[in-house]
Amino acid sequence: MEKMWAGRFQKTLDKTADDFNSSIRFDCRMYAQDIKGSMAHATMLARQGILSQTETDKIIDGLAGILADIENGTLTFDMQAEDIHMFIDAELTKRIGEAGKRLHTARSRNDQVAVDIRLYLRDEAEEIIELIKETVKAITAQAEENAATIAPGYTHLQRAQPISFGHHLLAYAMMLLRDIDRITDAKKRMNFSPLGSCALAGTTYPTDRAFTAEQLGFDGVMQNSIDGVSDRDFCVELLSAFALLMTHLSRLSEEIVLWSSWEFKFVELDDSYTTGSSIMPQKKNPDMAELIRGKTGRVYGDLMALLTTLKGLPLAYNKDMQEDKESIFDAIDTVKMCLKVLAPMLATMQVSKENTYRAAQKGFINATDLADYLTKKGLPFRSAYKTVGQIVAECIEKGLVLDNFPIEQYRKYSELFEEDLYAEISLETCVNKRNSLGGASEQSVRAQIEWVKKELQK
Ligand code: ARG
Repeated sequence: MEKMWAGRFQKTLDKTADDFNSSIRFDCRMYAQDIKGSMAHATMLARQGILSQTETDKIIDGLAGILADIENGTLTFDMQAEDIHMFIDAELTKRIGEAGKRLHTARSRNDQVAVDIRLYLRDEAEEIIELIKETVKAITAQAEENAATIAPGYTHLQRAQPISFGHHLLAYAMMLLRDIDRITDAKKRMNFSPLGSCALAGTTYPTDRAFTAEQLGFDGVMQNSIDGVSDRDFCVELLSAFALLMTHLSRLSEEIVLWSSWEFKFVELDDSYTTGSSIMPQKKNPDMAELIRGKTGRVYGDLMALLTTLKGLPLAYNKDMQEDKESIFDAIDTVKMCLKVLAPMLATMQVSKENTYRAAQKGFINATDLADYLTKKGLPFRSAYKTVGQIVAECIEKGLVLDNFPIEQYRKYSELFEEDLYAEISLETCVNKRNSLGGASEQSVRAQIEWVKKELQK
């Protein structure tokens, strides 16, 4: 295929260099955005008297035909084309002749690609927000089911204080809601039109940038044409939001891996989200959770790749910027796949209330509450803390727990201990007395669920 820019050259591009230079194998996914941008541009050119209405009508008809044919499969991308912009441009001229050659008036591929990525990411970001919402809903449904399921809460992965399993799950809902917020925020800054920046310096034609911006659903135009074609901040912002989202998915996945182990047995994953082993017949492996944890590394890599690509670039456009797309596309595909598998995996996960309860019974998880018991009877907390520490040590020595340590023994440590201590340190009491805002009590967890549900409606 003859290059559009062939006029200036005596020789053709070396085959390997041509393949190296070409981006159509990955930027072809922006065909719809490219066509949409071209339609808005052509409409503007006619309105401004730069093209005739007849020419613009032909262009728009031609572009609509190309779009339809790509979508119904009759037009396939020519991998010899340099990129999606050149492919559509050439195809248009093939179909409508001379008028097609006029579309690129007052425009450059530099502003074209900048428009296409913004439009593409705007839609993808919306889709990802919806997928995160589905995951939050799955988490919230499990939290609702387990609002009173007593479980150990951990610090340092050591049993710390009793909570409910629902309380624990809801922490992830909060993280994901912040992720939605971050993506929404990045979208706001992304939604400005670079179209009309042209190669870098603007144009001598009387274009109307505000018109094309409005046609394409942008909130306004980028105010500096050099920035218009060289800015990829929005890609970095989105990738950062995705990287942090993946951190959250990875932490949750890690917990699912732990919880589904024989050591914990807090949850059982549905057969449809687990795999077996080729050699060990007993195995039921949480591969999906492991893969989500594993794929987090890719998305971090995508972010680092783009930041590194951009860091030394002089203004304005440089071919290095073609590298933005593979990183951002890979991150989008990865994030979407992870969310699509995580939400139903969570929804179908069985929680063993007996096992989480049993785990909470061990490990002196109610020791803080016993110290609080003494404190409420007047002992300073530090003294109460010390006394309970000594009792725990004696219990460990004697193979007892706080719940069956006899009252006479307790009273040797402090006269403040009375029979009512046992009710005070029952797991149910420990959890339900933590009725502070955001705390572990069933009432508080239910309030958190309502809060999440309201946020989802925003
Ligand atoms: N394929 C190019 C990219 O993705 C499009 C812009 C090319 N512009 C240029 N001046 N060569 O960045």
